Amino acid sequence: MKFIKTLFLVTLLMALGAITLSSATSSKNEEPNSLQGTSHFLSRKQNRISVSCNKYPKICNIKGSPGPNCCNNNCVNFSIDMFNCGRCGKKCSFPKICCEGKCVNPRSNEKHCGKCGNKCDNRGSCVYGMCRYA
Ligand SMILES: *[C@@H]1O[C@H](CO)[C@@H](O)[C@H](O)[C@H]1NC(C)=O
Repeated sequence: MKFIKTLFLVTLLMALGAITLSSATSSKNEEPNSLQGTSHFLSRKQNRISVSCNKYPKICNIKGSPGPNCCNNNCVNFSIDMFNCGRCGKKCSFPKICCEGKCVNPRSNEKHCGKCGNKCDNRGSCVYGMCRYA
């Protein structure tokens, strides 16, 4: 068991090193082909990261992670995740969406009118997802 943990840590450190290396490479190398290769490489890395966040939640803070929070071994962003809004397993049901960790109805929410962060100012009201001013 201890051996496996050590092995995992070594792998993780290697992954971190690889990410650093690949971003250094991509800044030197501007050809589109090599950039494509880099993003493909990173997205594969991302999968491996999400597989183990139950045990090592901090890996969700790594650059390129979908978000800082860990649910069911997946890195998510509580702030905007429709299936983990504010906490793991909190799903927003239609027509609500997840904004700042809360399920809101964008058709009528004055702070998130039509989309997250679209605030209708003082006298505006949100009607069918659009700010309307009297
Ligand atoms: C989570 O989502 C919010 C809203 O899009 C964004 O501002 C924030 O940077 C995200 N957090 C991370 C760590 O990706």
